[in-house]
Amino acid sequence: MFAQASWSLYFLFLVASAFASPTARAGIEARAAITALTAAQITAYKPYTYYASTAYCSPSTTINWSCGTNCEANPSFVPVASGGDGDSIQYWFVGYDTTLKSVIVSHQGTDVTEILSVITDTEFALETMDSTLFTGVSSSVKVHDGFGKEQAKTATTVLSAVKTTMSTHSTSTITTTGHSLGAALSLLDALYLSVQLPSASVNFIGYGLPRVGNQAFANLIDSKFPNLAHINNKEDMVPIVPGELLGYVHPSGEKHILDNSTWVACPGQDNDSQECSTGDVPTIFNGDIDDHIGPYDGVEMGC
Ligand SMILES: *[C@@H]1O[C@H](CO)[C@@H](O)[C@H](O)[C@H]1NC(C)=O
Ligand SMILES: *[C@@H]1O[C@H](CO)[C@@H](O)[C@H](O)[C@H]1NC(C)=O
Ligand SMILES: *[C@@H]1O[C@H](CO)[C@@H](O)[C@H](O)[C@H]1NC(C)=O
Repeated sequence: MFAQASWSLYFLFLVASAFASPTARAGIEARAAITALTAAQITAYKPYTYYASTAYCSPSTTINWSCGTNCEANPSFVPVASGGDGDSIQYWFVGYDTTLKSVIVSHQGTDVTEILSVITDTEFALETMDSTLFTGVSSSVKVHDGFGKEQAKTATTVLSAVKTTMSTHSTSTITTTGHSLGAALSLLDALYLSVQLPSASVNFIGYGLPRVGNQAFANLIDSKFPNLAHINNKEDMVPIVPGELLGYVHPSGEKHILDNSTWVACPGQDNDSQECSTGDVPTIFNGDIDDHIGPYDGVEMGC
């Protein structure tokens, strides 16, 4: 794959701001306060891990929850709507988990061999958010143009399904999840749903999340979702693109799976400790794209 893609890797090198991570600042003191998750904390993410993986399954199998292993892992799910074509629109589904007592929204990621070029294609510029969808969000908040356009394609359909689910199941709790590009779309959905449904309690739990927006975006996300989690596996390089030099910043809430499979909580935005993605994978050449699909506590993303 790398041999075929040498030109795009060179391009990536330019846009991933390979030299942007000041790893030298990661000292012993910084590492000391990075804490390991307990087994129970890791297990609590498991249903969302399967929901992120399930979004790779075709809508014809998520609408009646017949998708096999991924669906069987969450037997308390009640589907409400599914869509997408897996090509111009990523698959997605909405429904209710009667155990978690939460609306679940999940978007499909892209093929692992395509994700880096999707992130760094011509639409990687930071753009102001759509003011109709993101009513009242400051124009200083900017996001990846391609991610923004992709999220806009399904936004109102997803909102309508979420409203139906909330009323059918008398809940105001919503969790959005996804892997890779699907995580980026679901993070935008989390913000969109919180703007459109101000009385709802919204959270995002995502996997292999690329950087989605600028500093103002990361700050807004931090202020809205204190329990947000974006879980990164080992040397996956997707979380370090697009590069910080292009103005991209991750929200807080990173959980990083270390080489020995310990999960740690990384405080702050883009923590540059070597125990967190930004410090552990200073350039895409330090990364391993095979780590992108997982395993996340035993779960590999895909249907
Ligand atoms: C689910 O829907 C698919 C496609 O419509 C159908 O082939 C399958 O038999 C259904 N499965 C169940 C369990 O209802
Ligand atoms: C895993 O690796 C980290 C970082 O090297 C280390 O601090 C931790 O003790 C290790 N945990 C286990 C269970 O080996
Ligand atoms: C990374 O985590 C350490 C330990 O808590 C903290 O001292 C440091 O400020 C964090 N770095 C960033 C960039 O947030």
